Amino acid sequence: MAVLFAQSTLFSRASFSLLRCNGFTRLSFSSFSSSAAVYSPPLPKTKKHCQPVVSALELGGVKISRDDVVRDDPTNNVPDTIFSKLGMQLHRRDKHPIGILKNAIYDYFDSNYTNKFEKFDDLCPIVSTKQNFDDVLVPADHVSRSYNDTYYVHAQTVLRCHTSAHQAELLRKGHTHFLVTGDVYRRDSIDSTHYPVFHQMEGFRVFSPEDWNVSGTDATAYVADDLKKCLEGLARHLFGAVEMRWVDTYFPFTNPSFELEIYFKEEWLEVLGCGVTEQEILKRNGKLNNVAWAFGLGLERLAMVLFDIPDIRLFWSSDERFTSQFAKGELGVKFKPFSKYPPCYKDMSFWINESFTENNLCEVVRGIAGDLVEEVKLIDNFTNKKGMTSHCYRIAYRSMERSLTDEEINGLQWNVREQVQSKLNVVLR
Ligand code: DAH
Repeated sequence: MAVLFAQSTLFSRASFSLLRCNGFTRLSFSSFSSSAAVYSPPLPKTKKHCQPVVSALELGGVKISRDDVVRDDPTNNVPDTIFSKLGMQLHRRDKHPIGILKNAIYDYFDSNYTNKFEKFDDLCPIVSTKQNFDDVLVPADHVSRSYNDTYYVHAQTVLRCHTSAHQAELLRKGHTHFLVTGDVYRRDSIDSTHYPVFHQMEGFRVFSPEDWNVSGTDATAYVADDLKKCLEGLARHLFGAVEMRWVDTYFPFTNPSFELEIYFKEEWLEVLGCGVTEQEILKRNGKLNNVAWAFGLGLERLAMVLFDIPDIRLFWSSDERFTSQFAKGELGVKFKPFSKYPPCYKDMSFWINESFTENNLCEVVRGIAGDLVEEVKLIDNFTNKKGMTSHCYRIAYRSMERSLTDEEINGLQWNVREQVQSKLNVVLR
């Protein structure tokens, strides 16, 4: 199995319902078709938990205030730490690794398709559940719809968890060749390759009968072949002469569906998901006689490899020792770590209850320690004779930018213990 890191595609059978083995490998335990939505209530929010954040911002021409996104009611699970990321737009910064990578992919499409692909990179990340799920045929009981996995603004409004959320509206507006880049949001556990906000690029191309008729092959085979050639070219454009392989997979929105893996540092690395768009999506959006392909790729994952960036939190750093290492148009400059401050580990054991989830725990820890938390890892798990289950988590605190004092870490850990107990209703041991 390929190494999956820096947020793998959410909807494939192979990468859904992921369980941590170690920082870099995730394994799948449930199949897509049999997965049921797990409802876990959002964390209660207290005023004390709120950090000062800007009160309003503008996204893709839409004015958004904090109160529109963060509300103290059970249909909302967006914390301030997430709201504060909404206007950051790392993918629109030409000197940031995410922006540099986006531009390099644009260059590939511009030169191979003579500017045919339209680019969208400021579509608002607040979308309806219809856009995020229904429009791309995500089943009603799919686990990605749960409050444990997705940030809900209201019962019918979410922070998009993938850029595929924009496929249908763009098709309806008549676009046939497009790239959509944006920030996407997923509730997740914490380690060096997972962060609740990251960036994706979606590609989409619509074909007409005259395209495949001349080839003599059937439309699906023609389009799948074109898709693979296009993406192999893109991988070569970014990585040079790498070894690649195609793996069949499953996505609700494509059939057939594939993942592209490249051989990198002696491991197979999954780089993107793609496929031939489900005919139903085209039919519903006014493209009855067409066939299309689509792909989705995670920019952090590729950027970590291309720029040698060891920790996903670094993308959010405003430390000049990070930001000054990258320049517009320079893909693949190797990042030189400017520090290696020591981590500090704190263990915490508690009896869990049935509504406990690791994502909820991580949200509490991030709410207190922010980017000072490097990893939250389950290190012990047992059930006693009375049927009570105990978890022990090891929290690694480490700043990318400075040394932390004992006093500071003890203060953070004390708060974490207190809030884990009060918000998650677990019993500390
Ligand atoms: N939306 C998928 C995810 O986030 C990625 C993806 C896979 C997008 C296949 C596509 C596609 O457009 O065809 O997991």
